[in-house]
Amino acid sequence: MRYAVTGGAGFIGSNTVDEIVRRGHSVVVLDDLSGGKEENLAEVRNKITFIKGSITDIEIVRKAFHEADYVLHLAARTSVPRSVKDPIETSRVNIDGTLNVLVAARDARVKRVVFAASSSAYGETAELPKTEAMQPSPISPYGVSKFVGELYAQVFGRCYGLENVSLRYFNVFGPRQDPGSPYSGVLSRFITCFLDGAQPVVYGDGEQSRDFTYVENVVQANLLACEAPGASGKVFNIGTGARITLNQTLRLLEQITGKSIAAKYDPPREGDIRDSQADIALGRSILGYDPRVAFEEGLRRTCDWYRAHHKPSPAA
Ligand SMILES: NC(=O)c1ccc[n+]([C@@H]2O[C@H](COP(=O)([O-])OP(=O)(O)OC[C@H]3O[C@@H](n4cnc5c(N)ncnc54)[C@H](O)[C@@H]3O)[C@@H](O)[C@H]2O)c1
Repeated sequence: MRYAVTGGAGFIGSNTVDEIVRRGHSVVVLDDLSGGKEENLAEVRNKITFIKGSITDIEIVRKAFHEADYVLHLAARTSVPRSVKDPIETSRVNIDGTLNVLVAARDARVKRVVFAASSSAYGETAELPKTEAMQPSPISPYGVSKFVGELYAQVFGRCYGLENVSLRYFNVFGPRQDPGSPYSGVLSRFITCFLDGAQPVVYGDGEQSRDFTYVENVVQANLLACEAPGASGKVFNIGTGARITLNQTLRLLEQITGKSIAAKYDPPREGDIRDSQADIALGRSILGYDPRVAFEEGLRRTCDWYRAHHKPSPAA
């Protein structure tokens, strides 16, 4: 099989590419390296085709999808706070870029497109856990852009017969997540703070909760979604079905690292939601999704990875 992975040099994309290569398939990665890094692909670099380019350029997207069986579309501007600051740029990449991906996939007659959607589509709907039947109500430009991507994917199914699956990932964490800025995934920032002996910053009171999902579970979902019968045109939650507060994760990190560091509590950020938890029954039944790596195990593995790969910042 031949896979094309947009955003394949990023955190989730590169972990997905590793698994595709491990299974013996061929992969073309399209990434503009605006957020990802070529070094994320170092272990598989001579086994894949890498194209540096943007999904906003449809000719490059067409080149990347030539003869592809499956497209995994993960390229995006991924930061919620940045989308609040610059909604036009988020829309240009996440909405216009996704449209290019769908047009190019349709024209290349790929078997299916799997779209990296997001739990942020749910917004502040109070009910937990979130089920796919709930009405999405995003509260950030990023959330809107991800929801529009799902709608476009489904419309391409209806209008052009393009098979599509959207996976709403819930707060993914694991090796290669970039801890480099206040916009980065919260666990990557917390872990590197603990390793550096620096103070982690919590936005809000720390009692907000998330369904943190280890990346290996998401990779499994991505590859199941390519082939699962009966999945096309559908949206699936990809989480663990549980949730944990930020304060609880800090206590766990104290246990894992053997360090005790008091967090700094700053005001909550605009666009951030309070609680999040996935109902994963639909993905279990139709995709055969089974999140095998539990939160604490994932946290330990992620700490081990950062211990081996993270270079402390000069300021720490
Ligand atoms: N990490 C999470 O918790 C999470 C949750 C929900 C959804 N998602 C979605 O999963 C996908 C992957 O996220 P990630 O966490 O790996 O982030 P990431 O930033 O590590 O990966 C995104 C990749 O897309 C690339 N990219 C950005 N703009 C591009 C463009 N115009 N053309 C080509 N490539 C471009 C970046 O260089 C990067 O490699 C994204 O679509 C994101 O919205 C992530």
